[in-house]
Amino acid sequence: MSSISEATDRTPILEVRDLYVGYGSVLALQGVSLDIYEGELVSICGINGAGKSTVLKAIAGVLKPKSGHIIFKNEEVTGKNPEYLHKKGMALVPEGREIFSTLSVAENLRIGAFGRYNSRRFADDLADYFDLFPILKERYHQSGGLLSGGEQQMLAIARGLISHPDLLLLDEPSLGLSPTRVDDVFELIVKLKERGITILLVEQNAERALAIADRAYLFSTGTVEFDGDAKDLLDNVDITSVYMGGKKGAHIL
Ligand SMILES: Nc1ncnc2c1ncn2[C@@H]1O[C@H](COP(=O)(O)OP(=O)(O)OP(=O)(O)O)[C@@H](O)[C@H]1O
Ligand SMILES: [Mg+2]
Repeated sequence: MSSISEATDRTPILEVRDLYVGYGSVLALQGVSLDIYEGELVSICGINGAGKSTVLKAIAGVLKPKSGHIIFKNEEVTGKNPEYLHKKGMALVPEGREIFSTLSVAENLRIGAFGRYNSRRFADDLADYFDLFPILKERYHQSGGLLSGGEQQMLAIARGLISHPDLLLLDEPSLGLSPTRVDDVFELIVKLKERGITILLVEQNAERALAIADRAYLFSTGTVEFDGDAKDLLDNVDITSVYMGGKKGAHIL
């Protein structure tokens, strides 16, 4: 198990135990367990179809598990709806961003704060987040759909952050971005980690994700194949050759 759980008696902020999730008769997760402790950056890597998005959706309440347990901030939340989990302090930035393209940047951000904080706190937060996301200040009144892919990704992350989540779930934040924008996104994730935000990061860009993560889980066809220190995973030639396209440190394709 993880070095952190061995080193301390702390309770994880999130515990997933023996989770089974399916789409109809297709089982996408078959007995997945994982833990995240406060302040950690944990990454889930794995090839296409391994079940990475499925586990994030199940954690965030978008998909109902067939069996297993999800415990968030000491409460069993298995089967709770996304609104409940959002209010309790979870924010999912989904794969493909899913921003509202006809709404302005401002309105997209306001939706992220809904149900968590009042408008005064929202205004205070904006000043802070504009430091992290200067582009959103420039485009504040523009429709989300007019932003570039990278800018939309920033908006999606800012929308997740504006609720002050205790746990931020990021699904493939670098997907489809140009190399410079990928750098921007990873730089931002490091900044968020430095602020003490607890992050579960799903990434196919394993080399980049493992370089900034504390711990990692490697998924393969709905199960956890490996979990441990992110650097160990990055340095493990056998695992990388099997799961990362045959070359140490190569991206999972
Ligand atoms: N809506 C759906 N209906 C049926 N099967 C699905 C659905 N969504 C995902 N699956 C299946 O569940 C499995 C896990 O999918 P999931 O989206 O979690 O993978 P992933 O690891 O996020 O992959 P990717 O890296 O491509 O995003 C795959 O076999 C996939 O085909
Ligand atoms: Mg996915």
